[in-house]
Amino acid sequence: MTILAQLSDLHLSDEDPVPTKSLREAVSTLLDLTESPDAVVLTGDLADHGRPSEYALLRTEIARLPMPVHPLPGNHDDVDALLAAFPEVKAANYVVDVAGLRLLCCDSTIPGQSGGDLSDPDWLDAALAEAPGTPAVVAMHHPPYHIGVEWIDLMGQAHPERLAAVIARHPQVVRVIAGHVHAGSVRGFAGTVATTCPSAYRQLHIDPGGRPAMTDAAPGFALHIVDGDDAVTHFRQVGTRPA
Ligand SMILES: [Fe+2]
Repeated sequence: MTILAQLSDLHLSDEDPVPTKSLREAVSTLLDLTESPDAVVLTGDLADHGRPSEYALLRTEIARLPMPVHPLPGNHDDVDALLAAFPEVKAANYVVDVAGLRLLCCDSTIPGQSGGDLSDPDWLDAALAEAPGTPAVVAMHHPPYHIGVEWIDLMGQAHPERLAAVIARHPQVVRVIAGHVHAGSVRGFAGTVATTCPSAYRQLHIDPGGRPAMTDAAPGFALHIVDGDDAVTHFRQVGTRPA
């Protein structure tokens, strides 16, 4: 069994201490888990302004985590500044082994835009073809599906059908995971299950038909628990302790 923790939309800022405090509490909640995750994936919007100083904040806060941490960019990030802060990450699209699970981190950003598009479908197709028998999680910032809230869906992926065509060729993909919408959601996608993750900072108000708004809901994260070709996803609130 492999446990992949997902933290998203941290929005660390050198102008506002609140997101940093929120991430610190999320890290503490992860450290309190009885069964420690094998790795953590950070699905974008890590730095609110994409500044090197904000990535330095990130490195400081995640230094408390004993397991590997794998970052990928969101629309608030600067890809070059992010890669400079994580020299162990050699490219914006990369694959790592997480205790027998393959994690494929994909860049879905378009510079200067809130919406996104999978940057390199051919890379993802080839990377998945390298290990057809190994369960895989494909991670990116922008969800490839509509969550049913128009103002959020307008800044989704421009061509989700390109990703769907790749995923449909590789049945070992147990999850396609994303962030961006600052809320948990689940949808069937290309023969597998796709999810979005709560923000480790602030949650969007995903009221179908509603207007753009934040909420005062607690920060959260996701745990993807993978056992062979089977997987379950838990959504957790930061600060949750057993009673
Ligand atoms: Fe965000």
